[in-house]
Amino acid sequence: MRLVRTATLALAAGLCCSVAASQIEIDPKAGETVIHRNIYGQFAEHLGRGIYEGIWVGPDSAIPNTKGWRNDVLSALKALKVPLVRWPGGCFADEYHWRDGIGPRASRPVKLNTNWGGVEENNAVGTHEFFELAELLGAQTYVNGNLGTGSGREMAEWLEYMTAEGNSTLAQLRRQNGRDKPFKVDYFAVGNEAWGCGGNMTPEYYSNLYKQVTTFLKTPANNTPKWIASGGHSEDTRWAQVLTTEVKQKMDAVSFHYYTLPRGNWEVKGPALQFPEQDWISTMVQTLKMDGFIRNNKAVMDKTDPEKKVGFYVDEWGTWYDTEPGQNPGFLYQQNSLRDAVVAALNFNIFHQHADRVQMTNIAQMVNVLQAMILTDKDKMLLTPTYHAFQMYVPFQDARLLALKLQDVPQYQLKEMSVAAISASAAQGKDGKLYLALVNVDPHKAQAVTVTLKGQKVSKAQGQLLTGAAMDSHNTFAKPDSIQPVPFSASASQGKLQLQLPAKSVLVVQVQ
Ligand code: AHR
Repeated sequence: MRLVRTATLALAAGLCCSVAASQIEIDPKAGETVIHRNIYGQFAEHLGRGIYEGIWVGPDSAIPNTKGWRNDVLSALKALKVPLVRWPGGCFADEYHWRDGIGPRASRPVKLNTNWGGVEENNAVGTHEFFELAELLGAQTYVNGNLGTGSGREMAEWLEYMTAEGNSTLAQLRRQNGRDKPFKVDYFAVGNEAWGCGGNMTPEYYSNLYKQVTTFLKTPANNTPKWIASGGHSEDTRWAQVLTTEVKQKMDAVSFHYYTLPRGNWEVKGPALQFPEQDWISTMVQTLKMDGFIRNNKAVMDKTDPEKKVGFYVDEWGTWYDTEPGQNPGFLYQQNSLRDAVVAALNFNIFHQHADRVQMTNIAQMVNVLQAMILTDKDKMLLTPTYHAFQMYVPFQDARLLALKLQDVPQYQLKEMSVAAISASAAQGKDGKLYLALVNVDPHKAQAVTVTLKGQKVSKAQGQLLTGAAMDSHNTFAKPDSIQPVPFSASASQGKLQLQLPAKSVLVVQVQ
């Protein structure tokens, strides 16, 4: 019985049809580039059930919670070592007025969330609640300011409210609302998607506004955030070009957004589940474009900012599918499958490669929205395949990038589309150990990979493997553990490792 099951799994994972081995040579001598842990950052917007129900249930809820934040979701996020949370938007940020979200919850104004479904926003989650969440997670904070319907004054006052130490009226107001010590604001952005929902601006116009407004954003020296300018998206490099040419102070990074749409089309994006193989390969093609987009922006910035003072933060990325039938289209709720885990891992490998400029990225979004880590249904919760990919990659947080040569990689092809079947990344973890991440994007064929270390012998590899029987293998509330990582180990022979990577899989191993 056991043999039959193993064989069935092997067939399902494509172990039947392995091809000639790809070669990986890793230089175990770590270079200077650190894979900043904030590359694994998360985005939580006031959108659909992303915050309300998804994480926040309020202190009086029957769902067990800490200060209103649900315990099951909190402990899953802690296990993920979430390094940073971006809040409150997104498009929402440019219509968010911070004064609506302070003071007794019962007296906070109820607004309409005009961006996301037109639903009522009761402002139960505001500044204090957000910082409590970050403190509970041990995460850094990224606050996105309102340039759209707000003003320089409103942002300046919000910063004073959050960071002032003395007895100014705003510092006193913060104390009255229950917080004596200033909050630690690690990152602050001036608007979001200034080219679109943030105000339909040109980069030149926004650059001027940015310079004007940031002149008045002041904080104590020991609590100064990194300042982020709203940048471009997709193939656009003009925002990085104009901003890094025009703005010479108070700009630590330019942001960038890129979403993977399986069909590359906002009108018909493609479903989250039960998609054809054509959607699988085009999702991979669309995802891998991230590499070129970052490269092109870096090429621009290497000219305008050769000292690399300004970072390039991909502060929104992830898959975006057609709305699920029966869901509010404004809530951007979607299921999450093995395909999403593969997309996440491909993006991680790309981000590692560009970690000299890309020191932060935020997946959109943390819970119940777009490519989420966690889905909830009232008191139930499930971990998605994307969650598992994030957890497998934890050793890469703050690791040192290792040079890696990848050769003889077969192509995975379907009709006119083709991509390299394997993606790889290696790093020396903070614990001094060597970690290797591999992705096999081919949904049919297993891949053999030979791993060698430059100047050293390998003895074994141990880690975790994520794969599934189908391209859309996923977890449901009825079966929350259908897809999860399994232990993986392999021994070397003559100093070389021969790894068998099942079809459509993600593998992270520690190599010794
Ligand atoms: O993540 C959803 C939305 O996508 C964000 O609010 C916006 O910035 C982007 O267009």
